[in-house]
Order: sequence, then C-alpha cells, then structure tokens
Amino acid sequence: MNHPHRRNFLATTGIAAASMLTLPGSSPAAEFTLPPLPYPADALEPHIDAKTMEIHHDKHHKTYVDNLNKAVAGTPMAGKPIEDILKNAESIPEDKRAAIVNNGGGHYNHTMFWQIMAKPGSSKISEDLLKAWGSDGDSLKKAVKDAALARFGSGWSWVVWVPKEKKISVASTANQDCPLMFGWFPILGLDVWEHAYYLKYQNKRADYIDAWWNVVNWDAVQSRLKIGMKM
Ligand SMILES: [Fe+2]
Repeated sequence: MNHPHRRNFLATTGIAAASMLTLPGSSPAAEFTLPPLPYPADALEPHIDAKTMEIHHDKHHKTYVDNLNKAVAGTPMAGKPIEDILKNAESIPEDKRAAIVNNGGGHYNHTMFWQIMAKPGSSKISEDLLKAWGSDGDSLKKAVKDAALARFGSGWSWVVWVPKEKKISVASTANQDCPLMFGWFPILGLDVWEHAYYLKYQNKRADYIDAWWNVVNWDAVQSRLKIGMKM
C-alpha cells in the first residue's frame, strides 16, 4: 500500500461484500428518485450559500438521477440498489458503463454529501474518528484538503474505510467515481466540482474547503464510520 494519506484510486480492487447504507431513492423496486435536502437550502449560510445549494441539489443532482434512470432502463442493473450497481461496476454492459457509473456515482455521492452537512457548528469531530486516523483533527482536515487541491478538474476528496485493511484512508477520485467502486466505504466526501462552490468562491477552491469544515455533520460522519468499521 502506498502512503495512506494521499492516494488516488487507480486500480479496481476487490469488491467489499459487506452491506452498505440504504440511501433514499435507492429502493430496488422503483426508479431512482431525488431525495429532499435534509435542511433548508439556506441552512449552511454563510459558508455555503442558498443559491448554490438550490442549483446543486435541484438541478445537478436531479440531472444525475434522471440520467441514471435512463441509463439503467432495459439493462440487468434496472431495479437494483445503487450500492450494488456501483460495487459491481465491472459487470455493467460496456456500452452503458460510463453513463451508469457517472450518473450512479453522482446520485450516491450527492445523497451522502447532503447527509454529512449540517447547520454550522452543530457537531464536533468524534473521538472514534480521531482514533481511527491516529492523529488530530487538523491533520485529517489538511490531508483531505491536500487531496482536494491536488485533484485536477472535477472530483471528490474522501475519507474512506478500507475493509481489507481495517483502517481509514484519505483519497480523491475523478469526476463522479465512487469509493464503492473500489471496495471502499466513504465516511466523508468533499465535492470539489466547481458547481459546488463557484457562485460564492469562484476559482478559490481552497477558501471553499476551509469554509466547508464549518458545516460538516460530524455525527453523520461518525454513523458512517461505525458502519464501515463493521465491514
Ligand atoms: Fe456536486
């Protein structure tokens, strides 16, 4: 394993067999649906502005959901939970794989993203997470920020649980690639697509990241860590 704190997903590794969170909109019996934001669009002000949240959720996430439904129609993936589809991305028919991975990852990643944010200052980083990380919160935030700034173009910076190694790691992915595709379980994800910050922060990705820490829902992150640690 390479340096654990700053690693890109380069190779598809074994697929984790453990169960994942069931996300809203992932019911196997129905089409995927856009889950509502778990708070008003202005709840994250002043760090993330309401207009950005409205466009990000109502337009961008909705487009991923709509295009995912179109892409899975008529394939063996139709009716399956999004977690199962992403964990088995290699088995998606080749002509549909890019569309399903891009839009399916977009759906899963954003559903998680809304859940791991909350009103500023409403929670604090858990002792479990610091223990799993093995250092203080500032060093974890720095690792996530470094990975986010090193991500050229659009993508995500993550804290993931690595079931095979029973540890957490920081990594980044391109576009809407999801850690589930690589056998890893996302604990925290920072969206560094320009659509997440450009209205307020323009080209200043670092300023957006610094502000974003104020709206992390550490209780939700802790819940995901506990799920990951059982894998
Ligand atoms: Fe986004």
